[in-house]
Amino acid sequence: MDLSTGYMGLALRNPLVASPSPLSHTLDGIRRLADGGVGAIVMFSLFEEQLRERAERTYRLVDEPAESFPEALGYFPSVAGEDVGPRGYLDLLERAVSAVDIPVIASLNGITPESWTGYARAMQDAGAAAIELNIYYFPADPEVSGPDVEQRHVDVFRRVKAAVTVPVAVKLKPYFSSPGAIALRLDEAGADGLVLFNRFIYPDIDLERLAVRPVVDLSSPADARLPRTWIALLCGKVRASLAATTGVEVPADLASYLLAGADVVMTTSALLRHGPRYATVLLDGLSSWMRHKGFQTVDEVRGKLAAPDITDRAAYERAGYVTAMRAANAGGYAPW
Ligand SMILES: Cc1cc2nc3c(=O)[nH]c(=O)nc-3n(C[C@H](O)[C@H](O)[C@H](O)COP(=O)(O)O)c2cc1C
Repeated sequence: MDLSTGYMGLALRNPLVASPSPLSHTLDGIRRLADGGVGAIVMFSLFEEQLRERAERTYRLVDEPAESFPEALGYFPSVAGEDVGPRGYLDLLERAVSAVDIPVIASLNGITPESWTGYARAMQDAGAAAIELNIYYFPADPEVSGPDVEQRHVDVFRRVKAAVTVPVAVKLKPYFSSPGAIALRLDEAGADGLVLFNRFIYPDIDLERLAVRPVVDLSSPADARLPRTWIALLCGKVRASLAATTGVEVPADLASYLLAGADVVMTTSALLRHGPRYATVLLDGLSSWMRHKGFQTVDEVRGKLAAPDITDRAAYERAGYVTAMRAANAGGYAPW
C-alpha cells in the first residue's frame, strides 16, 4: 500500500510523524525513530529559557520552580550527559539531518516574541525541514485577557515566519474560548501547519512531602476526541496543513484522525510505551484497514468524515452533544 503523502509542502513516505519526546534526545534515538518507519520526526523542543540563559542555569531553574514557568518544567530534557542547550540542540539537529532520510522538524518552545528568531534561523541553517512552534503559554495571571493571549500567539508566529524560509507550524493548546478563531488567524498570518493539540502539564500534590510536583502523563485514545473534533471542524477551512497530536495508541486512532481531516498524525505516548518500532504496527494496521475498505491512497481517506460544510456548525455540534447525552441518560449513566 502506498501511504506517501505531504505535510506543509514536504514529501512524506507516510502520514505518521514522531512528535517531540525524549526519544529524539539522542542521535541513536532519532535513528531508531526513522528505522521504526515514521514519515517525519519533530525533535524535542528547545526551550525559551535555554535561549535566554546558559544551560547550567536552566538546570538550576528546574530545581527552583518558583522562578520560572512551573507548568513547563516537566518537559525539560533531563538526559544525563547530553548538552541540550542551544549549541547542543543545533549540533544534534545537524547530525540528525544527515543521519536519516526523512524530514527532521525542529521545535521551539517559548512564550515571548523575543529571542526566537535568531534560533529559528539557526535551526533552518542546521538543516531543519521545518520549524514547529510550541507556544507553551499558560495564562496563570488572571489579569491577562483572552485577546492578549491570542495576540501573543500571532506575534510569536509572525516573527519566526518572517525570519525563515522553511515552513513554520504552530502547535496549539485547546484552551482558547474559540480555538477555531485562533486557528483562522494563524492561517491568515501564513501558518504552514497547525498542530492540534498540545497536552499541558498540570501539577499534582504530593501528600507525603506536602509539595507540588509536575507530572507528565501518557495519553489514552479517549484524549483524541477533542483534537479530532477540531480537526474535523477546521478541515477545508484553512490553507495550513493539519497535524493531529494526542491519543494515538492503535491503528484505528490513526485512521480516525485521517478520516477527520488530518494531513499527518503524530504520536509520542505510543512510541514511548511500545518503542519506536511500534510505528510499523500502526502503519501496517492502517494499510490493512485501507485495503479492507477499498482505499488506495491516503488522500482518499483524508477528510471523509470532516464536519459537513453547513452554515450552522454550532447547531450541528450541539445536536451531537444532545444525542450523546440522551443516549447516556437512557443507558443509566445518570443516577441523580
Ligand atoms: C515525556 C514527554 C515529553 C514531551 N516533550 C515535548 C517537547 O519537548 N515539545 C513538545 O512540543 N511536546 C512535547 N511533548 C508532547 C508530545 O509531543 C505530544 O504532543 C503529546 O504527548 C500528545 O501526544 P501523544 O498522545 O501521542 O503522547 C512531550 C510529551 C511527553 C509525554
